[in-house]
Amino acid sequence: MAKALHHRDLRREAKQQGEPVPPIASLAIAFSAQALARLGMPTAGADPNFDRGMLQDLRTIGDPLGEDDLPSDWRFGHTDETRIDLLLVGGESSEPSLNSLFEKWCGILSSGWALVHWDFARRREDDKEFFGFNDGVSQPGIRGLRPDGTPLVNRPISSDDPRSLEFARPGQRLVWPGNFILGYQREVEGNSPGSIFEPPQSWMRNGSYLVYRRLNQNPERFREAVEGLRAYLASQGEIASHDWLSARLVGRWKDGTPVVMSPDGPNTEIGKDVFRNNNFRYAFGEQEIKVTQQDGSTRIVMATPGDPRGKLIPLMAHIRQINPRAGQSEEGAEQHPQKLMLRRGVTFGKEIEEDPEGERGLIFLAYQTSISRQFLFVQSTWANSANAPTSWGPDPIISQDGTASPKRRIRVFVPSGRPHDCPFNGRWVIPTAGEYLFLPSLTGLKELCQS
Ligand code: HEM
Repeated sequence: MAKALHHRDLRREAKQQGEPVPPIASLAIAFSAQALARLGMPTAGADPNFDRGMLQDLRTIGDPLGEDDLPSDWRFGHTDETRIDLLLVGGESSEPSLNSLFEKWCGILSSGWALVHWDFARRREDDKEFFGFNDGVSQPGIRGLRPDGTPLVNRPISSDDPRSLEFARPGQRLVWPGNFILGYQREVEGNSPGSIFEPPQSWMRNGSYLVYRRLNQNPERFREAVEGLRAYLASQGEIASHDWLSARLVGRWKDGTPVVMSPDGPNTEIGKDVFRNNNFRYAFGEQEIKVTQQDGSTRIVMATPGDPRGKLIPLMAHIRQINPRAGQSEEGAEQHPQKLMLRRGVTFGKEIEEDPEGERGLIFLAYQTSISRQFLFVQSTWANSANAPTSWGPDPIISQDGTASPKRRIRVFVPSGRPHDCPFNGRWVIPTAGEYLFLPSLTGLKELCQS
């Protein structure tokens, strides 16, 4: 974990300094429950959703099913011939080096394994996903120390501020590592740790359940739907621009600026400022906060307004629906940190101009220790629901309702301040494959190879 975070920091620093990103090759190998059973690895006591596989959960997840009960839009992963047993996630500094890495794996795996699918995923300019928004701005901060005794994630908030017990950077919720990796203390209510989440089998220690979803995106459909929303509001005598409305659907402007901090337009200074771009909690405002910067100097981070009623960020906006922070939900705010996952979304597919008919979208990868309490809960109980975490409609970006033409109504407070319940129909995120996998630690992987 410390090594992975170190690599991430190196990349981030290089990007911030405008220097070339250092060539760090990486490879992760994750296994489905079926594959582990065939390899003879003991999994008794493993997460029951992992054991059953994602196909069994599709009614809950909301992907449309055909008459054969198989997902109608999946390209692979749903038949015996295309079942996902292994997921290899590789990173390289350039496409040619990734291709040669890929050929090497194919050579190693050739006996007994067949290639089902290969996606070339990459970070687009400014980390923007295909609807044009900066992604990966919000991540939980993992509690814990590196071997040298320093915290795993930077803790810049002054230690005499009680918020330093709850947050790493301002607004970045600290979460006990047992929420993401087996064998550590788990997140429960409050700031003290829960009991150690023991792995069901010793070889699974330091491993994590990996939820893989291949989500096709249709930027043109999304654009048309936002345009439809704009036209509907115009028919009600309200004026709202396209960008203003799309920012309300996500909860951030395209450059990552939180709408709650800059309701009238993006402010790149805030969007790029890691001390500010997550410093909000919806239920109440944040007082100013003192932080120590990397060069040792101190700085006061400005106060942020609250937005308990969703006048600035609608209650069903994507980032609010899937992480209500200290805001309203049917669960109670103290339960919210337990739902957090480590998300790694990477875009796949070519730009529209290069390949207008091609597939494109997001490879959604999320690491966690309880699929039902984390991914499944967030997708089905919150994103898909019109009544939870609040009763303002489902998540406008990722909700699924088991049909190919979902009907949605969403409520927006338009610039005039009046609330409007608006139709917002169509489908712009289409799941085309997925599986629950287990990502072992290097030690677990060695045991697996020896078995
Ligand atoms: C194509 C599909 C998706 C798109 C386009 C998308 C887009 C975004 C964007 C633009 C953000 C704001 C940047 C950030 O805060 O990191 C975000 C945040 C987030 N998304 Fe998604 N997302 C997608 C799928 C999903 C799925 C499937 C889930 C979980 C089931 C999810 C969970 C989250 C979470 C937890 C956050 C952070 C919220 C916060 O802490 O404030 N997203 N997403």
